[in-house]
Amino acid sequence: MTPDLNSLLNTESFQAVAQSRLSKMAFDYYRSGAWGEWTLQANMDAWKKIRLLPRALVDVSQRNSASDLLGMHMAFPLLIAPTAMQCMADPEGEVATARAAAQAGVPMVLSSLSTRSLEDVVSAANANANANANANANASMVMQIYISSDRGFTKALAQRAQAAGCKALMVTVDTPVWGVRERDIHNSFCVPHGMSIVNLQRPSQPTGHSGSGMGQALGWTIDASLTWKDLDLIRQSVNIPIMVKGILRADDAGRAFDQGASAVVVSNHGGRQLDGAAPTAEALPAIARAVADRGPIIVDGGIRRGVDIVRALAMGASAVQVGRPILWGLAAGGQAGVERVLHILAHEFDLALALSGCPNVKAVTADLICRQA
Ligand code: FNR
Ligand code: LAC
Repeated sequence: MTPDLNSLLNTESFQAVAQSRLSKMAFDYYRSGAWGEWTLQANMDAWKKIRLLPRALVDVSQRNSASDLLGMHMAFPLLIAPTAMQCMADPEGEVATARAAAQAGVPMVLSSLSTRSLEDVVSAANANANANANANANASMVMQIYISSDRGFTKALAQRAQAAGCKALMVTVDTPVWGVRERDIHNSFCVPHGMSIVNLQRPSQPTGHSGSGMGQALGWTIDASLTWKDLDLIRQSVNIPIMVKGILRADDAGRAFDQGASAVVVSNHGGRQLDGAAPTAEALPAIARAVADRGPIIVDGGIRRGVDIVRALAMGASAVQVGRPILWGLAAGGQAGVERVLHILAHEFDLALALSGCPNVKAVTADLICRQA
């Protein structure tokens, strides 16, 4: 039975509904962090420690939440983070998420480990954007890329994404090896029958329908020998902008821009890679100080409320990404569930702007943050 989505008032409520509708294997895969899940929890806690100093008596009767990023329009400064295997949450999988993103007017980043083909996802998003007068005429799809040990395959995938109409690529650099998610090992996690990692199929490759954890079937999709010079391969393969995802250090952020990145994504992979890595709210300030003048900074990890977006912008981010709450929306109600999650976040952000004395995104500046004596 479909739950009454309008009775769910915040993204946390969606998680409980998702848990009741998903198999244990799928729910655990989505919610897991690595090892002791310290970073997973710390991401959420760290935003709560950022206290705001709202401005009084500012006319906020006319507000505008819109923003843009590398030529992509955002109804509010949020992108859907790339998360793998969305058909476990809903039969339409990534296609449903893309339609919801287009409807809400926010960009979606498609995981290279998606269970729907990138061409299907981009065309669904564009069809929905065109049909919806309120949304952007052309959906903003971004393709996430892991540079695999098969460099020729990765180059071809990047070019396929550009040809399909993706507006940018997001290269993930925090995954030399897969983080260990112990729940997946307990559950003997595998790609369910009837689904496949469609964008990454090669002849005579294992299907991932058996085994446990991420290791066996998907081992070749990443490469522990990767270094900065490998980014050149991607940059030279396409002429759309490249964002580098998985940065936690100011020196690495500078290096990414030196190597031709157009944006960086401050991320610890939602606590799924190095457990013990700093929460992103703690890593962001030093990165913003170092590279704010070089290009947009996106941050993800533990963003659960619209006010967290205000916090992130005040700390120097241009936009945030949200991962798990989108999966909970998808599991709770397919496309409509993701639309409801996005609506909640957009509405909370609009009200948090008003309550902070900010009529628009540009008015969110560093002085909104309380620096304790
Ligand atoms: C991810 N993430 C991720 N990142 C990436 O670059 N490629 C991927 O395929 C995936 N897959 C994936 C699956 C699942 C189930 C999760 C939860 C996460 C990381 C993701 O893009 C993002 O960095 C985090 O999810 C952000 O944290 P929150 O919003 O989930 O707390
Ligand atoms: C994960 C990979 C797919 O976090 O990025 O599960």
